[in-house]
Amino acid sequence: MIKFDFNTYVNKFIDLDKYNNLLNEKDEVINKFNSYDMIGWTERINDELINDIKDTANYVKNNFDCLVMVGIGGSFLGSYAFDKIFSKYFNNDNFEIIYAGTSLSSKYMDELLNYLKDKNYCICVISKSGTTMETTITYNLLKDLLKRKYNEEEIKNHIIAITDKDKGNLREEVNREGYKSFIIPNDIGGRYSFITPAHLLPLAINYDLDSIISGYYHGKRLVDEAYNYAVVRRLLFDAGKVVENFSIYEENMAFFTEWLKQLFGESEGKNGVGILPMSTVHTRDLHSLGQFIQDGNKLLFETFFKVQNSSDYVHYDGRNLHEINNIVLDSVINAHYSGGVPCIEINLDEVNYDNIGQLIYFFQLSAAFSSILFGVNPFDQPGVEVYKQEVRERLG
Ligand code: PA5
Repeated sequence: MIKFDFNTYVNKFIDLDKYNNLLNEKDEVINKFNSYDMIGWTERINDELINDIKDTANYVKNNFDCLVMVGIGGSFLGSYAFDKIFSKYFNNDNFEIIYAGTSLSSKYMDELLNYLKDKNYCICVISKSGTTMETTITYNLLKDLLKRKYNEEEIKNHIIAITDKDKGNLREEVNREGYKSFIIPNDIGGRYSFITPAHLLPLAINYDLDSIISGYYHGKRLVDEAYNYAVVRRLLFDAGKVVENFSIYEENMAFFTEWLKQLFGESEGKNGVGILPMSTVHTRDLHSLGQFIQDGNKLLFETFFKVQNSSDYVHYDGRNLHEINNIVLDSVINAHYSGGVPCIEINLDEVNYDNIGQLIYFFQLSAAFSSILFGVNPFDQPGVEVYKQEVRERLG
């Protein structure tokens, strides 16, 4: 179960008349949302595809030592964030999945290639465009290593590609070589692609896919909450709160906030508007950015994730450690609020597939609504092309 509190620690900072007016514009915003042709992620994924994903996950588990996922941005963050939440901190007994392709660090690549040289690995390359530089470079380096160990026919069994149905270099290669492949549908963009093979395939290897999928669609019931959240964020922006800090008290959610930053940053940050998303991991960051948030420039508001129950019973001095963590969280909300920081609270009864799946749908919906309230297209990212053009010119 998920509860949202958008008001207790927010209302005194926003214009309540505008709040009610904007709440009344919900149908208009939803109509606008429905007019976009990039909302395929609201549709049901078909059973045949789910079975194909499960079969492929079993094929990987039964035939390889590890899987190397190659992708960047929306092509990796969803599954990576989910995996980080549910894998163990120590003695992780999951099938090994390595996420690569998210940087051009030669140190990382050198170590990765060394690590893989004696392993029987499978590559899963994900790129909707099929042309992303980091993905292409990493994929080719990993494929070169395969070429030193296997013949052409064998290599084909080591590669799975997830890309556009018809377009791009990767699709051309798939057509030529006959690799196993999946499609990222035309009507789903990278950061909204959680419910596609791009994320479901790596997750199917270690987790119960059906529960993840049903959790995600369970999020459909949160349309009102998603709209309310978007409205509150918009009014906080109007009140000069132009930064949103996602505040977590479980280290394993750190990549969930990275996913959020990408989702909101790339959806909303356009035409000189948008809220800058940032994140803090507590209690660690109370000893760092906590000072700024409490006492510094009043440009931000916070969204707290509180987990009500934990099944890990660690006691300290007669108290449950999880309870102590939550007492700190409650205290921080009070302290920051008294320091002029509006606080939104998202309360999960526990961390499970259903709640996290729901949150993914909720945030995707809300990021889209929010972008519409800012008057920008939620589904494009023209800004990221500018640096790419620079790189192309410099690399010739
Ligand atoms: O959300 C997005 O659309 C982007 O972050 C993309 O996912 C990212 O740039 C990777 O693109 P591609 O899948 O085309 O390689």
